Amino acid sequence: MKITSAEFVMSNSDVAKCPKDRIPEYAFIGRSNVGKSSLINMLVDRKSLAKTSGRPGKTQLINHFKINNNWFLVDLPGYGYARVSKKDKKVFQKYITEYFEKREQLVCAFVLVDIRHEPQPVDMEFMEWLGTNGVPFAIIFTKADKLKPRAIENYVNTYLQRLLETVWEEAPKHFVTSSANRTGKEELLNFIANINLD
Ligand code: GTP
Ligand code: MG
Repeated sequence: MKITSAEFVMSNSDVAKCPKDRIPEYAFIGRSNVGKSSLINMLVDRKSLAKTSGRPGKTQLINHFKINNNWFLVDLPGYGYARVSKKDKKVFQKYITEYFEKREQLVCAFVLVDIRHEPQPVDMEFMEWLGTNGVPFAIIFTKADKLKPRAIENYVNTYLQRLLETVWEEAPKHFVTSSANRTGKEELLNFIANINLD
């Protein structure tokens, strides 16, 4: 798929106020600093459409970007950010869970996982929660530029095996990406163009 336009539409913390357009939507979620905003910029070929930072906790709201005038990419805040206060965490959890529960336009959530880190319980639990709530999702392993090809293969196999040892009977669809060297862009855009979670 060729990206011809990418524009910021709005930010908010209330799913009821998200854009009303009935067009397909794809959301990026995962731990703080995993590379959600960077991946969005890489996909649409824009340096700073979504704001990024080396410090975790940069994205704080639900951010809608309209792509090619006919679908949305959504940049979400990260979870598991230790420096956010307990109260903020609760508020955050509420609007993020509401987003996934109520956003009918959502076609697929992309759960991002940093390929350098051991499988994290918070990610596994979040995927379970998505499964329980009937939200379709795929996994995106990020920062693949940090590992050699053999190590990537081992990591992905081990990760998927861990998932199969929990509640999953089938491994979810997954992608390996690097925003730094632009790996995985075409594969992801093709997936979005012909979405098929089977
Ligand atoms: P929050 O909004 O804070 O939840 O973070 P985020 O998941 O949106 O991460 P963001 O895109 O802001 O990137 C976090 C840091 O990781 C930045 O310093 C990026 O430069 C770096 N980063 C993102 N993607 C890659 C990648 O593919 N490779 C490498 N090496 N670094 C990356
Ligand atoms: Mg971000």
